[in-house]
Amino acid sequence: MAIASVTGTKTIDHYINGQFVPSAGGEYFEDLNPATGECIARVAAGNAQDVDAAVSAGKKAVESGPWARMPVADRARILRKIADLILANRRELAVAESNDTGKPISESFEGDIPRSAQNFHFFADFVSSIAEECYSPANNERHLVVREPSGVCGLITPWNLPLYLETWKIAPCLATGSSCVLKPAEWTPHTAFLLAKITKEAGLPDGVFNIVNGFGPNAAGEALTRHPDVRSISFTGETGTGKAIMAAASTTLKKLSFELGGKGANIIFEDADLDEAIPVAVRAAFRNQGEICLAGSRLFVHEKVYKQVVEELARRVAAIKVGNPLDESTQMGAIISKEQLEKVQHYIEIGKSDGKLISGGTRLKEFPEGNFLSPALICDISEESRVCREEIFGPVLPVIPFSSEEEVVAMANATPYGLSCSVWSRDANRLHRVTRDIKCGIVWANCWFARDLRTPFGGQKASGVGREGGKYALDFFSELKTISYRYKD
Ligand code: NAI
Ligand code: MG
Repeated sequence: MAIASVTGTKTIDHYINGQFVPSAGGEYFEDLNPATGECIARVAAGNAQDVDAAVSAGKKAVESGPWARMPVADRARILRKIADLILANRRELAVAESNDTGKPISESFEGDIPRSAQNFHFFADFVSSIAEECYSPANNERHLVVREPSGVCGLITPWNLPLYLETWKIAPCLATGSSCVLKPAEWTPHTAFLLAKITKEAGLPDGVFNIVNGFGPNAAGEALTRHPDVRSISFTGETGTGKAIMAAASTTLKKLSFELGGKGANIIFEDADLDEAIPVAVRAAFRNQGEICLAGSRLFVHEKVYKQVVEELARRVAAIKVGNPLDESTQMGAIISKEQLEKVQHYIEIGKSDGKLISGGTRLKEFPEGNFLSPALICDISEESRVCREEIFGPVLPVIPFSSEEEVVAMANATPYGLSCSVWSRDANRLHRVTRDIKCGIVWANCWFARDLRTPFGGQKASGVGREGGKYALDFFSELKTISYRYKD
């Protein structure tokens, strides 16, 4: 059985100074549909020359264009227009996102695309209402703290939530009056390409938003991190890539904001509401094929309810519908690439020898060309297994028993990561202690994935450097300046 490709073959060029431009070196690479293995686009492979052209356009837009000095209300109007156009083109964007990533259309249409519009709506409102500080230590003194655009910002993003994570950076960056050069993940360039057309239609001045496609090391990504006119780099991706970017950026002293890997613990205590905790645990592990940095990718269950929870999990995991991403009823689609599929399968092999594979981990026979894998549930496994400590970024859930609060906190903190965690209990004092003692950036009590865009988003330990979201993102994409006045009475 074959899945029909909807997009067809097209060319995705760079977007520089308001124009689509071919790759300076004439090089292109193939973008594959993970569900069919077909090439759906040829994509410009950017090099240092392309990055230089995009950065120059961004610099000119901030230094001599209207954007940086535009009244905030006018900038916000353009951001709102971008959001409205994303919603107006929701179906086309959702199909493009699903063809590129392999994720279910319901996930793109109900999740990624409206959430991308929300990023623009949110920052348009937020930047319009944010207060500036003023201190008055004496009658005749005022110390004002003002935000100025930081200049050209480099935005480097991953393939798992392409448009959502791109707009999570673009919206606050543009809200400050800065300009940007986006380097989308090489596997998923489609929705950024469509967004470029949307920004043009919304009236965003040329040069404010630029895209250079291509790869990371020794290519577009690295050139951006080394460019002397790029003031800041906001990066989401692997921890190892974050280290490489920090090293490359050091020679030009850039501001850095990193959202890196995760290995989120999901902890179910014996007094939890299991009717709520179990379905959410399944969703937290397998949503978006498990390719979410905030995934609850290791589940700790108190020994008193372990057997009961594992039985219910097994029933629910076996019922997950895996298949054609463009089918509305599909719950889990294809894994992004053959390499990622092999990585996930390798961890499942480790899981089989360190624990017991209850179900899943098999390829779909109906779609041999697609990177489909049924969701894998592994029980009776020690927290010390590599499956429980390393980021897999795929549909694999190890379930680990525990006997005490102290033990489970120590186990949850035993990975190098510290992005997110969920805790399920009816005991408020216990929730207080555990949420305090877990070392990570976001802790959910009796929920998962609850977000408010005003809160800081980011990780502790190997999960990140800095925070984005709300005021934290505006601070990052701005230069804060203190202007002190002394008056004569
Ligand atoms: P990746 O780190 O391989 O690539 C991310 C981006 O960095 C891509 O655009 C890539 O081209 C670029 N890149 C790679 N090497 C570079 C270099 N030396 N210099 C400059 N740019 C470079 O990550 P991938 O595989 O695309 O995404 C999966 C990873 O992202 C997972 O580890 C996941 O945990 C993490 N992630 C983290 C999130 C968070 O918010 N903390 C959210 C989503 C994903
Ligand atoms: Mg792709």
